[in-house]
Amino acid sequence: MAAGIANAVAAAFERCTRASLVFDLCAIEANMRRVADAARASRITPLFALKSFPHPRVVELAAEILDGFDAASPAEVASVPANRTISIADPSGAAIAHAPSTGRVIVSCETVEQVRAAPPHADIAIRISASITGRDPAIGAILDGNGHRRSRFGLDDRAAIAELARAAGDRRVGIHVHHGPITATTAERFIATARAALALVDTPPAFIDLGGAWHGIADLHAAFAEVRRALEDLEILVEPGRLYADGAGFAHGRVLARRELPDRILQVVELSRICHLRWSQVDLLARAPHPGEGAKVQLVGPTCYEEDVIGEWTVDPSQVADRVVLRNVSGYALAWNTSFGGVPAADVIFAE
Ligand SMILES: Cc1ncc(COP(=O)(O)O)c(C=O)c1O
Repeated sequence: MAAGIANAVAAAFERCTRASLVFDLCAIEANMRRVADAARASRITPLFALKSFPHPRVVELAAEILDGFDAASPAEVASVPANRTISIADPSGAAIAHAPSTGRVIVSCETVEQVRAAPPHADIAIRISASITGRDPAIGAILDGNGHRRSRFGLDDRAAIAELARAAGDRRVGIHVHHGPITATTAERFIATARAALALVDTPPAFIDLGGAWHGIADLHAAFAEVRRALEDLEILVEPGRLYADGAGFAHGRVLARRELPDRILQVVELSRICHLRWSQVDLLARAPHPGEGAKVQLVGPTCYEEDVIGEWTVDPSQVADRVVLRNVSGYALAWNTSFGGVPAADVIFAE
């Protein structure tokens, strides 16, 4: 097995009898402690985005190590352990009615109706569009008609933001901005978004929730410190998701069929991109070839869907085996893990 794989994980691969997602619980715990330490050193409150790893074992760890949860639906709100800080960001607004009556509740709002629906003890976080800096013109669900896109989430209009702040009355009002599909690699990116958001609000907010998408930052400690310096004494929350599963997720599957094409070896494996590996930029665990001696291997899923392609790698020919192991599997893979066309969902195994 490749270097750097924990013994418990390697042993779990041996137990796999079919398509399996294997997660290293010790690595997840270490990630949570690392994020919590880095955040608290800069007086930043670390939350856990429930959608990123909706499994009771992981939620239990998050409850022990982190400061609270980001919940996006009534079902997620119901899964939050009692008396934990909960930030509700449900685009439909339906989860607001399920907010707990005790503990700190932050309700992220995009409409005046959502502000009014929030319980009296809740803080209001006005959701601001991640597109306000104009740096990512190709990202977002709203097509501008000029080839540009912008996020479907959040407000970008000063008057509309002020209206939500007025509707909040005398509650604590903060702002919430989540980078979504943009993976920031520097603190500067978060600071630019935060400053643009702050420039849109008339009254200084009581707090800012900078959302998730922290997994592209190499030195989290330094990045959080930079964000803290830039935002001075403002209360800051973050709600990473996939960062907590960094390096902890693997997938195992047998090779079901192999075809030698003129330009590659095409292997149909038990693992499916659309059923088992969504939102994961996976990498094949295999020895690299000597120069000029590589075999090009393409792994495809067992479904009848043309785009069910896992990836393509050039490996040492001895590594073309009857089973594959992939790394960089995120907790979202478990969240989406599903069946299609008779291909069953993958087994989920925790190595510890
Ligand atoms: C509002 C919100 N916060 C946080 C996250 C977590 O994002 P990530 O897994 O990229 O850190 C998500 C993910 O979709 C989200 O929608």
